[in-house]
Amino acid sequence: MIYYNFDIKNLNSFNLPCKAKTFIEIDNEYDIQLLENIDFTKRTIILAGGSNSVFTNSIFDGNIIHIKNKGIKIIDQTEDDIIIEASSGEDWGEFVRYCVKQNYSGIENLAAIPGSVGASPVQNIGAYGMEVKDVFYNCLCFNPIKKEWKTYSREECNFDYRYSIFKYQETPEIIWKVRYKLSKHFKPNLSYSALASEIQRLNLEVNSPLQVCDLVTDIRNSKLPNPKELGNAGSFFKNPVISPEHFQKLKEAYPNIPNYPSDKGIKIAAGWLIEQTGYKGKQIGNVGMHSKQALVMVNYGNAQGSEIITLANKVIESIREKFQIELEIEAHLIY
Ligand code: EPU
Repeated sequence: MIYYNFDIKNLNSFNLPCKAKTFIEIDNEYDIQLLENIDFTKRTIILAGGSNSVFTNSIFDGNIIHIKNKGIKIIDQTEDDIIIEASSGEDWGEFVRYCVKQNYSGIENLAAIPGSVGASPVQNIGAYGMEVKDVFYNCLCFNPIKKEWKTYSREECNFDYRYSIFKYQETPEIIWKVRYKLSKHFKPNLSYSALASEIQRLNLEVNSPLQVCDLVTDIRNSKLPNPKELGNAGSFFKNPVISPEHFQKLKEAYPNIPNYPSDKGIKIAAGWLIEQTGYKGKQIGNVGMHSKQALVMVNYGNAQGSEIITLANKVIESIREKFQIELEIEAHLIY
C-alpha cells in the first residue's frame, strides 16, 4: 500500500509526531513492485521497527519505506551449527527468544533489544559482550534504484562498533532477509560486568541460552526505559574511543572512570561521562537523559525535534569541556 501524509508517530519508539509525504508499506515480495511508482530523487529512508530513528521534524518530505515481511526458516545445518534465516520485519526480541528456545546459541546476549531483524546489521547491534556481526552469515537486499537483488557477505558489510555499510547509505538498500549462523552447543559469553555480577549475586549456574536470554531481559528491564511507556531510541550516543595518553590523564583525575580495551584505543562509558556532568535524570522541557541510564535520551511526552537537538548539543558541549571528549550521536537523526 502507498499512503500520503501518513502519520508515523506510532511507528517510532521515540514517539515523535511526524507525517511522511509518501509512505510505502511492504508486506511481501509482490509489494516490492510498488516501488516502481516512487520518485527516488526525493529523500528515502527505510523504517522497520523504528527503534533507532529520531524524527526531528513534523514533516518528512520524502519517501519512507516500511518493511513488514515475516518468516523464519532453517537454511542449512550440521551437527554443530545451524544457519537460520529471518525476514526483516520480524521483531528482533521475538526472534532471539525463538532461537534460544530451540537451544541455538550465539544470540542470547542480544535478548530484548527493541527493533526488527532488518535493523540488526545496520548499526551492528550489540549488548552484554556480543555484537550481531559475531553471528551474521549474510543478508539479501533489494536496491530500489537499480532494481536488483544482492546478497551481502559478512566481509562486504564492513561491520564495526555500531556501524555497517548500510548505516549511512544515501538511498538505502532494503534489507529483506538476514541469515545468522548459530551454534547447537551452548557457548556462554558471560564476562560482561553487569551480567557477571548479576550471576554472582543470584548465585546462578548458567547452562542454557534461554537462561542467559531471561537474565539479560531482566537486567535490561531494570534499567532501560520501556519505549511503550517512555519514548526513547536506546543509547542516544556512542561510547567514545580515546587515545591511551588521553585516558591516562583522565584516569589520574577520575580513577574510577569505566573503560574497556578497543582496537582503536580505549573505550569510555558515555553514560558515566554524562552522569558526571549532571545530566542524568535531569528533565529539560519534554526531554531528558534517563534517570537509570544516562546514555538514553527520553521523551517525557510531547518532545519537539528542536528540544532533542538542543539537549544533545548541551550534553556534547559539557562533555567536551569537562573531559575533552567528542561524543558522537548513535541514534539516526532524521531531519
Ligand atoms: N554508567 C554510569 N552511569 C550511567 C550509565 C552507565 O556510570 O548512567 C556506567 C556503568 O556503571 C558501567 C558502564 O557505564 O560501568 C557501562 O554501562 P552499561 O553496561 O549500562 O552499558 P553502556 O555502555 O552504557 C552499551 C550499549 C547498550 C547496551 C549496553 C549493555 C552503546 C552505545 N550502548 O551501553 O546498547 O545495551 O552496553 O551491553 O554501546 C543501544 O545501543 O541502544 C544500547 C542500549
